[in-house]
Amino acid sequence: MNILVTGGAGYIGSHTCTALLKAGHSVIIADNLSNSKSETVRKIMDIADKEVTFYEIDVTDAEAIDTIFRKHKIDGVIHFAGLKAVGESVDKPLDYYYNNIVSTMVLTKACQKYGVNRFVFSSSATVYGDNKVPFVETMGLLPTTNPYGETKAMSERILTDIANANPAFSVSLLRYFNPVGAHWSGLIGERPNGIPNNLMPYVTQVAKGKLGKLRVFGNDYLTVDGTGVRDYIHVADLAEGHVAALENLTEGAHVYNLGTGQGTSVLELVKAFEEANDVKIPYEIVDRRPGDIASCYADASKAERELGWEAKLDIIAMCRDAWRFEKNYKGKLRK
Ligand code: NAD
Ligand code: WQD
Repeated sequence: MNILVTGGAGYIGSHTCTALLKAGHSVIIADNLSNSKSETVRKIMDIADKEVTFYEIDVTDAEAIDTIFRKHKIDGVIHFAGLKAVGESVDKPLDYYYNNIVSTMVLTKACQKYGVNRFVFSSSATVYGDNKVPFVETMGLLPTTNPYGETKAMSERILTDIANANPAFSVSLLRYFNPVGAHWSGLIGERPNGIPNNLMPYVTQVAKGKLGKLRVFGNDYLTVDGTGVRDYIHVADLAEGHVAALENLTEGAHVYNLGTGQGTSVLELVKAFEEANDVKIPYEIVDRRPGDIASCYADASKAERELGWEAKLDIIAMCRDAWRFEKNYKGKLRK
């Protein structure tokens, strides 16, 4: 199939492009490079030893999207493009609502105009709010504490309404848990701007000596050791989940958790990282981070049942591959 991948130069998108190419699909990337670099497109082609078509465009630009749909026979869309920093979304809500909602509407309008009925959307476990773990797709969604989470919940509703109104439209709403790790080649991985907010990139930069020590946000949660528990998923497994979702789309809107079903605490992750890579991660316990929940992990059985997909790589592989990518990276921290 010819797949339009928006945000394909980004972290999860780039890994998914390699998985799509490996599975025999053709890839057209649309990315405005607001949080990525064009050299990643070259690396995707190097890894897959195949060509991809790349458009440096903004997905909210309806004319630019129309041109792509007119020029190529698109069979399906995977929509990754979006802004994703939870804290920033509180300071710049309009940027987040505009970018993340308008992009979804522009793309689905083009899909309707050109009769494209396969759509896969990047949602997030954040839409569950502070529900009871494990999070299961049938749960009622609780309000999130930030505009970013709201954009995901709203996009899910928009896509579901479109599928309900148009029986031919098939959409998979993929709720990712905590994607970490990098491609085994060390060529592509996560490159956050400035000081990382997320745990794994922070840990890799402590390991590299760019940051002094990890601050563990709270050790008084009701969890195995008091630190926050998350369902970390290797980005390579997540990428395969997209191929499975695309290839098993059926009419209507379908929600899938993409996680491992395993919870790992902050201190367990630190220990796994030290064991996997034979490095020391100094840390200190500090106050809880506002907005954090104690535990977040998936019931991942629906994806296994309906898509035939399950995560295969464990926390050691996630830590090993994240570190290989960071170790190889020669660039400076981007400001
Ligand atoms: P990323 O920032 O690495 O990738 C997003 C890509 O989209 C970037 O290359 C960026 O340049 C591009 N982009 C953003 N706005 C655009 C626009 N208007 N037009 C064209 N390109 C645009 O992020 P990621 O971690 O790969 O996340 C991909 C998707 O998955 C996002 O929608 C994100 O919200 C969602 N998600 C991410 C996580 C996570 O922890 N990484 C978890 C759950 C959901
Ligand atoms: C994981 C755990 C922290 C950093 C975020 C978004 C979510 C989704 C994935 C997009 C928590 C602790 C972290 C640090 C720490 N993104 N931590 N010290 O918050 O679970 O999820 O990314 O959809 O929407 O909210 O991920 O990696 O920031 O935190 O102790 O320096 O690590 O408290 O328990 P989070 P995270």
